[in-house]
Formats: sequence, C-alpha cells, structure tokens
Amino acid sequence: MFQSVSKYRPVVNAVRERTGRSQRRWVQAKRTPEELGEAATCPFAAEAAQTSEPVHSWEEPKDWLTIPGPPSHPYIGSLLWHNKHVQGWRDLQEFSDIHYRHYGDLCLFGHPSFQNGWGKKKLLVMLSNPNQFHKILMTQGQFPGGMLEFVWQMQHYAKSRKLPKLGAFFNFPSDETWRVQRNYLQKGFLGPKDARNLFPMVSKACELGIDSFHYWANAGHLQQFVNRATFDTITAVLYGRYVQTLTEKNSRPEDLKLIDDAVWFFKWMADTWQPAEAIKNVILGYETEAFTKMATHLDGFRDYAQTTSIELFDRYDKDELTEDEENCFIIQAYERFVELEETQLTKSELADILMITYVAGVDTTSALMSWNILALAQNQDKQEKLYQELKEHTNNGIISPQMIEQREWLPYLHAVVRETHRVTPGIAGMTKKHKEGIDMDGYRFPPNFLFGINWFSIQNDAQYFPEGDVKDYKPERWFKEAVQARKGTPSEIIDHRLLANPFGFGGRACPGQRVAHYQTMCVLASIFGRFKVELTSENPPKFEPYLAGAIHHPSPMPMYKCTIR
Ligand code: HEM
Repeated sequence: MFQSVSKYRPVVNAVRERTGRSQRRWVQAKRTPEELGEAATCPFAAEAAQTSEPVHSWEEPKDWLTIPGPPSHPYIGSLLWHNKHVQGWRDLQEFSDIHYRHYGDLCLFGHPSFQNGWGKKKLLVMLSNPNQFHKILMTQGQFPGGMLEFVWQMQHYAKSRKLPKLGAFFNFPSDETWRVQRNYLQKGFLGPKDARNLFPMVSKACELGIDSFHYWANAGHLQQFVNRATFDTITAVLYGRYVQTLTEKNSRPEDLKLIDDAVWFFKWMADTWQPAEAIKNVILGYETEAFTKMATHLDGFRDYAQTTSIELFDRYDKDELTEDEENCFIIQAYERFVELEETQLTKSELADILMITYVAGVDTTSALMSWNILALAQNQDKQEKLYQELKEHTNNGIISPQMIEQREWLPYLHAVVRETHRVTPGIAGMTKKHKEGIDMDGYRFPPNFLFGINWFSIQNDAQYFPEGDVKDYKPERWFKEAVQARKGTPSEIIDHRLLANPFGFGGRACPGQRVAHYQTMCVLASIFGRFKVELTSENPPKFEPYLAGAIHHPSPMPMYKCTIR
C-alpha cells in the first residue's frame, strides 16, 4: 500500500523551495507558565515552563492559504483529489500519509467531515512533524482542544438526547464545564499510582478469561475475543465486577448486550465517517439512517452505564458492596461526588460522563491488542523472543503487581507494543484546534484554526531509517542502545516522545492511557506466555488498516491457529 517515500521527496523539496519554508529562522522567546496557561492535567506543563519555544519568525509570517496542498472546493473540500489519490476513506493511515508524501510535513486541504474546518471548504492543516505538535501542545491554554470535538456524531447525539453535560466533552472551545468534569474523571485513574492501584483488578479479570483465547482464535473470532477481553478488564476497573464475557460464566444478558451494542455502535459510527454522510448530517443538517442506528446503540451504552452505576451507588449507600466494588473507579468517583459540591452534577449526569469511558475505551484498546497479536503472528522469531522473556520473568504470562512497581519490566513486550504502534497505529493521528491563533513554520494561523496531527508518516519515512529497514518489524529498534545510537542524527526524530504512543497529548490526552496500557500488557503477556499463535494458510498476504469504529482494525480479520505451549 505504501509507496516509497523517497519517490515523493523531489516533489516535497520542490514545494518547500517554492514556498520558501526551508529558509525560515526563529527568534527564541522565553514563555512563562502564566503565558502558557497549560491545564494542570498536562504532563508536559512543567517542562513547558522551562522550554525556550520559538514564537515569532523574524520575517512577516506568510498567509496560511499559501501552504501547499490539494485543491479544495466549497462544501466538498478536497474530495475530488482524495477520490483520485486515496484508495478508500476507511484507511486513515494512508489518508494521512498520502498528504505527507505529496506535500511534506505541512499540508492544507479541506474535507466535509471537518465540521470545525475553516470556511466553506472546511480547511485544515495537517502537521506531520512532532516538533510542530509540540508547539501546538505548548500553547493550548487552560481550555485545550481535543480530538473529541472532531467527533461530530457525539455532539449531535448529546444535542438530540438533550445531555448538555455530556456534550461539554465535544464542544469547542472547551470550557469550565469540561474542565470540572475532566478533572473529576481523571482523578483516581490517570496518575501512575492510581493506575497501579487499579492494576490487580485488570490482572484478575484477564486471568479469569484468558484461556478462552484458544477457543476464540481457533474458531476465527478474534474480533470477539479482543472486544470481550477489553470489556471484561475495563469493567473490572470501572465497576469492580468480573463479568467474564470471555467465558460467559458469570455474565448477565445486559453485559453481553453491551458487547453487541459496542460492535454495532462502532460499525454504524464508522459508516457515518463517509464523506456523503458528513455532508448530509453535518452540512445539510438531517439525520441519516446510519446516524440514527448508531445513536440507538449508544442509547444501549447509556442505559447500561445508568443502570449499573445507579445500582452500585444505591448499594454503596446501603453499605452492601464487595471489596473490589469498593475499590473500583466508579465508587471512588462517587465518594468524591458525595463530598464535592463543585461538580454540580446529578447522579444520572455522573453516570453519563462515566459512559464516555466505555465509548472511548472499548474499540481503542481492542484494536491495540489486535494489531499486536497480528504483528507477533507474522513475525514468529519476535514471538519466540517474547515467549522467552515471559517464560523467564512471569508465571505463565501473569504480570504480578510487584512486577509493575519495577522501573523496567518486560522490556521486550514494551518494545513490541512500541514497534506495532509505529507500523500500524490504531489511530494514525488526531486533530487539535488552536484557540488563540499561532505562528508556525513561517505561517500565521488565525484563532480557532484546526490542525490535523499525523503521527504515522515520519515514523515510516525511509529517510530516517537505515537502508531497507523501515519496512521491517523490529522491536529491537526501541531498545535503549538503539535509541542512544540515533541521538544527534536526523533519525532521532522517530524517538520524539509525542510519537511514542497513541494516546494524544496535552491537557486533553487520554485519561485512560495507563489503564489501557495495563489491559494491553496483561492480555498480550498472558496470551504469548501460554500459547503459540500462527496465521493459517487461508489468510491474504497483507492486512489493510480499516476504520471499523473510532479506530483502525486489521482487515480482513486474520485467521489464527493457536496451540498451547
Ligand atoms: C489503547 C487504548 C486507547 C487509546 C489509543 C486512546 C486514545 C485516545 C486519544 C488519542 C484521545 C484524544 C486525545 C486528545 O484529544 O488530545 C483520547 C481521549 C479520551 N480517552 Fe482514550 N484511548 C484509549 C483507551 C481509553 C480508555 C481505556 C479510556 C477510559 C476507560 C479512555 C478514555 C478517554 C476519554 C474520556 C477521552 C477524552 C478526554 C478529553 O477529551 O478530555 N481511553 N483517547
């Protein structure tokens, strides 16, 4: 699918020469924490306060409309060009990469799905260099923009169901309502210690169901496996309940229905990303069939979150909870809710906000698992190395709570996950809006400008890798020594930490990232510590990324042969 980047390099260079971007120079300016105003949630806030960031160019910034990119037209944006050059709208890796390959790391184009894009052409600028992301991150202010404001489906849903508090997560600019809810949501969840406290529940839920991998994989139902593994582990964390949908031993019909709702919600949501859908729903303002069906399954999520949370709150009030339920995230949140007037939420609004964690946390984590399983099945030598590490350091693939307290645990597994993120990131990038306006790369961008962030292309650009190496699946490239060897060379760009994971960054970075990381590590370690996984002969030679919901899954779903070690 990916053509050689070097093939496009002359085009990129010519464009750069034409637009004079290679001659840019910057004046360094120190910024104070007050100027930066970064939300307390941002893990980079402390660093930002000390960083010398280039803010103004010495020459008058150029008009952003002169940024290279495909032609754009009112209402349809660059669709004509996309139809010619992009094979399908369901592979956002290719979609992002094609812009990078043709136009370089700053590319202007339009798309009807970008409701927040500029003017009638719905323009945005796609950035592919992590130093550019860093600049956006450093100047987000107290109410940062996030990817959720791009998810117009959720905005429409919140509006149609009259749920303004839920809607606050999807509005731009974000406001005090978002900030209060976000702080509330991430407390007890995002911090390293908080996530470590939740780890034993992830581990237990994984352990209860993991042996079923054998069955799901050999029956050709890996998608069901990853959905259920994600659901079982996240439900343990959120509700302190072990629903065991993997084995169906302890599951209630409503638990199994939620998995179904999740599958269908993501399927219909993926359909609504089609340009024609976006034109009808976003621009012409009527609800299409795909949107209505998506919303019905979202109602299923909502019903589940409402009934399960409120039942748990009632049992808490009557002092009837189990120990795990007492320690679960939702009860911790409820205790703070009872204490804190500041949230100004009702119990039902609280349950709605917690529902976002399901919507944001099921499809994403399951895709991450899928891509890693596929990569290891395709690279038997790497799978063998991982097995040796797991055999030596874990008990049958079980990661103990003591292990995650160590500074470096299971380095090969970590390197595998990093390499899989490089070659097949479930999310190829995201969007960020800039409220105040910003000067960057010699251009001045007006307030409320929309940026696309593409973290796929640089990591797969042959010029940053040794000859012929870019296409190899090589977890070893993320070992400390290899990273050290790249220091001071152009290749070190691939080690930029804003490229290192799929969780976004800044004050809106994924609050579930540590828990999702633990879920993925536990499931992968347990699978590869006890099974050998191979691809069967009926698979095609290649799997394409396919937007099957909020993020890419492999297509077609691979068929596996799984044997007990
Ligand atoms: C591998 C799994 C996951 C990936 C790749 C992922 C990725 C992301 C990304 C890219 C964002 C947007 C960041 C931004 O706008 O700057 C995000 C936001 C979010 N994620 Fe995750 N996520 C994952 C798992 C989870 C889990 C398990 C949860 C919760 C249980 C969760 C909850 C959220 C929420 C609530 C937001 C919205 C934050 C806000 O806008 O303030 N995610 N996630």
